[in-house]
Amino acid sequence: MSTNLTALITGYTGESGKALLKELIQNNQFKKIILVGRRHVEYTDNEYKEKTEQRLIDFAKIDDYPEAFHGADIHYCCLGTTRGKSGAEGFRQVDFDYIVGAARLAKQEGCKHFHLVSSQGADPQSLFLYPKVKGQTETALTQMSFERLSIYRPAMLMVDRTENRPLENFAQTIIRNTVQRIAPEWITTPVEVLARAMCFNTFTKDRPSTEILDNHAIFRLSEQQPIQTKEQSQATNNS
Ligand SMILES: NC(=O)c1ccc[n+]([C@@H]2O[C@H](COP(=O)([O-])OP(=O)(O)OC[C@H]3O[C@@H](n4cnc5c(N)ncnc54)[C@H](OP(=O)(O)O)[C@@H]3O)[C@@H](O)[C@H]2O)c1
Repeated sequence: MSTNLTALITGYTGESGKALLKELIQNNQFKKIILVGRRHVEYTDNEYKEKTEQRLIDFAKIDDYPEAFHGADIHYCCLGTTRGKSGAEGFRQVDFDYIVGAARLAKQEGCKHFHLVSSQGADPQSLFLYPKVKGQTETALTQMSFERLSIYRPAMLMVDRTENRPLENFAQTIIRNTVQRIAPEWITTPVEVLARAMCFNTFTKDRPSTEILDNHAIFRLSEQQPIQTKEQSQATNNS
């Protein structure tokens, strides 16, 4: 697989997006990483500054910004909100409209492999809003005929969140001291595991053109991601 690829991340300011960006930068397989979002981030690290290009858009008018999605071979979508934060309509708008809009523009602008962070339990037939919208989004994307589409269904994302979500923080504290110690893959997904899996999967051959990866598959993929030193990566790029 060429190491001359350009990646694009939507949702790069979120927890899984941040972990993924770190992974892609450390992995060093991409010549450039485009970041499409609604707010600018001031990176101090030189590698971040050199490798990334931020493109700001108004997601409510996403169709006005096809150029923001131009030039990316691989798209990683980590967008999402919660009902608690945005209300039912707002949740649907972000988790369906914005994601489907981003996928449509990605496809139009030449993206070959689209990665979506969805969720465990996604089901378009569900009676509950969260799994239903997640399932509907997955269905819409599978109908877009990407060369490759990888849908990840993580369990509860384990991370020290920047944003204050008291209930989630409480649940994570309990789970960290109980279930995660005994059966880490059962109901939790550390964001670093998800990021490693997404990165590794990009360079894995002979996978189905459309795939849905449950939590166990995410853990298995993440275990295969080799830690590549900068020197090794440079040697690959020069060969
Ligand atoms: N939390 C969990 O345990 C869990 C479990 C399974 C699956 N998931 C799913 O995994 C995905 C990633 O989750 P996460 O926890 O990494 O997300 P997160 O930290 O909440 O970040 C969400 C990203 O979406 C962007 N976003 C949200 N609302 C937006 C809006 N109105 N306009 C433009 N951008 C918007 C945020 O931008 P700003 O930074 O500008 O707000 C941020 O970059 C989500 O789809 C989530 O549903 C989460």
